[in-house]
Amino acid sequence: MKNKLQIIGALLVALSCFSLVSAQDATIRIIPSDDAPTISRHIYGHFAEHLGRCIYDGLYVGEKSNIPNTEGVRNDIINALKELKIPNLRWPGGCFADTYHWKDGVGPQSERPTIVNTWWGNVTEDNSFGTHNFLNLCEELGAEPYLAGNVGSGEVQELADWVQYVNFDGISPMSDWRKENGRDKPWGVKYWGVGNEAWGCGGNMRVEYYADIYRKYATFMSDAGLEGGLYKIASGASNDDYHWTEVLMRDIPHNLLQGVALHHYSVIDWNAKGPSVGFSEEQYFKTMEQAWLMEELVTKHVEIMDKYDPKGKVDLVVDEWGGWYDVMEDTNPGFLYQQNTMRDAMIAGMTLNIFHNHARRVKMANLAQVVNVLQAVILTEGEKMILTPTYHVMKMYNVHQDAQLIPIELATPDYAYNDEKLPAVNASASKDAEGKVHISLVNIDANKSNTISVDVSALKLKGFTAEILTSKTLEDHNTFESPEKIQPEKFKKFKLKKGILEVELPPFSVVVLEGN
Ligand code: AHR
Repeated sequence: MKNKLQIIGALLVALSCFSLVSAQDATIRIIPSDDAPTISRHIYGHFAEHLGRCIYDGLYVGEKSNIPNTEGVRNDIINALKELKIPNLRWPGGCFADTYHWKDGVGPQSERPTIVNTWWGNVTEDNSFGTHNFLNLCEELGAEPYLAGNVGSGEVQELADWVQYVNFDGISPMSDWRKENGRDKPWGVKYWGVGNEAWGCGGNMRVEYYADIYRKYATFMSDAGLEGGLYKIASGASNDDYHWTEVLMRDIPHNLLQGVALHHYSVIDWNAKGPSVGFSEEQYFKTMEQAWLMEELVTKHVEIMDKYDPKGKVDLVVDEWGGWYDVMEDTNPGFLYQQNTMRDAMIAGMTLNIFHNHARRVKMANLAQVVNVLQAVILTEGEKMILTPTYHVMKMYNVHQDAQLIPIELATPDYAYNDEKLPAVNASASKDAEGKVHISLVNIDANKSNTISVDVSALKLKGFTAEILTSKTLEDHNTFESPEKIQPEKFKKFKLKKGILEVELPPFSVVVLEGN
């Protein structure tokens, strides 16, 4: 009798566990589609602003530095960015762009005037890193440069001259000057921002006024003979300013407009951002809420773009995104230096999944920023350099670059905190040119594993391999003392049976599966 009761008890426990697990289960339905869009590699773009230690004492140490460098740019950073397959790099800002006068940054370094970086700490810069340094770096990286033009405090002629300087192959005052400065052939810069945050640091303009200003600047930015023409990007909305997008799409002729920008940072509260390490679960949850807001923002801005441009000629360019917290203790508040933890890995995995799933209209994006600023992929200290969890996510995910999206339908349990809920799991999938399928899965739940089953029968795959990024605690991060604490690892907690792939996602983990 005692034995019978024990068996019944054990069965009940097993059943209740089973129902608990099932209640947590997420499912993905693959919807194969031949005309699904390509995931533009340019959504994996980065951003390098003259801000804090991003350029000076970050990327750029100068040719005389003891740190091994190429034309003053650290070789370790160049190699890490090449590994990342960085497709484009935005420069020189940001807010800095609307104060920057490019002519002060070319010619002999010793003759260059200084500039006070008024947005970021009022530091005096010597203009030693200029147009040649940036464009040569992009060439070295195999990345497309994305130049942000000065509209706020610069003249139309100045921007038109910049285009001619970097793009014109014939004889002209600007191309002759470029040659005098040591560069014979033009670089051929396609991507141009026409101002930055025109609603704020770029001039505090109303969008109705900026749309006219844009028309003027864009008109005089001749392509200078660049094959295919320039790709001009209008300074876009902040977050949910849908009126901004509406007016840009309505009032700017679409032959002058290739991209409309959008900026969204995952910040809890601009007056109480919270620390980048040492945060509470509540702060984590709120950051996730902000990161997940990207889904709604992109959906709604795209709806407006669809209304004015049903054929999808103008792209959405999310040229600033990422987590933003308080600066690290004892660092210059104007330098925006923060650590990068597993929380940031969650933001990166989730945001890239959102961009993939909106690949029809989101064609470009730039994580803010590349080195030592905000959600950086690389941090430096003297000659040391570390790769952050965000770096690892972007590298794991780069298999999606230029692959064809596989649309999916996802049902996910919630990640609940107090009375609030968020989808615990997010995902995306694609098929590359060699026919390999990649599925990226993120479980943002701080405490619970989630099992996800994906019906991959339609894809006729033989098997999968996988990598995971996770750690013991959400606050774990790489440090200069322990640079490899967080690293992608081989992942085996999945099985494929009769076309159903079942994956067990630990709390706060990112998994990328490759199917052949
Ligand atoms: O990335 C930091 C700053 O955030 C940029 O300079 C500006 O465009 C935005 O407000």
